[in-house]
Amino acid sequence: MKLIDGKQISQDIVSELTTEVAELKGTKPCIAFIRVGEDPASVSYVRQKNRTAEKIGITPLLFELPETVTQEELFAKVEELNADKTVNGILIQSPLPKHLDEQAAFNLIDPNKDVDGFHVQNAGRVVQEDPDGFVSCTPAGIIEICKREGISLEGKHVVVIGRSLIVGKTFALLAMQKGPHANATVTVCHSRTKNLPEVVRAADVVVAAIGRPNFVTADMVKDGAVVIDVGINRVEDPSKKSGYRIVGDVDFAAVEPKASRITPVPGGVGPMTVAMLMKNTFKAYQLQSRS
Ligand code: GUN
Repeated sequence: MKLIDGKQISQDIVSELTTEVAELKGTKPCIAFIRVGEDPASVSYVRQKNRTAEKIGITPLLFELPETVTQEELFAKVEELNADKTVNGILIQSPLPKHLDEQAAFNLIDPNKDVDGFHVQNAGRVVQEDPDGFVSCTPAGIIEICKREGISLEGKHVVVIGRSLIVGKTFALLAMQKGPHANATVTVCHSRTKNLPEVVRAADVVVAAIGRPNFVTADMVKDGAVVIDVGINRVEDPSKKSGYRIVGDVDFAAVEPKASRITPVPGGVGPMTVAMLMKNTFKAYQLQSRS
């Protein structure tokens, strides 16, 4: 099948984790979510993560802090959760309001509870290829898709569009690692790249993580390329009750006929992010039980 069903793959991971958690003796894994303010996308993402945790048997704790929370108050909450031995994973939903230093908050999380992989120490562990580190969930989810769908990156030219720490940069590091499900030759494109369409046309695998609807057009994609669309963009759609619909960074209708494999939006990479977060939480629990 050409279409990569990220929803199905994530459901497989959720059911595997459900079995593993059911087999645990004693306390169950626990993840704490911190959400600041009422940004509708953040409310929806955290609700989804909360629900999936519950389904698996991971205990979710939700801390909803007001938009006006001070940095000191936020940091105090993080430190309280760091000290709480019953909490295995901590996630601060991004973006935070502008008056808060987001990276400082991520760096305050105990790196062994940093299930988002945003702590500087975990970013460094990706560079050092340390298997005990936590890898940020979206790039880890793309590697997991490739593993489970038999898409080899070995020796392939992978072109990543976007250089964010959360996706593009981290995925580039993972794809170029030594070892199975990696060993790719990686090019990273971004807003300052010259001749971007030409660079993307040379790709065996395209990973679009730039945050612009329909950015990747058919003329940029080589026949037979694998296309991974990480975009989650809201575009106006009066025919929808909400007034918008979600599209990716790829012009799906035009690119799909050329691609050998392609992820849809929604239902591609998105659900994988939540599944990998749960996998990281289970890993945190296991690492903490060992020590
Ligand atoms: N906001 C958008 N994606 C993410 C994510 O993966 N983790 C967190 N904490 N916030 C996000």
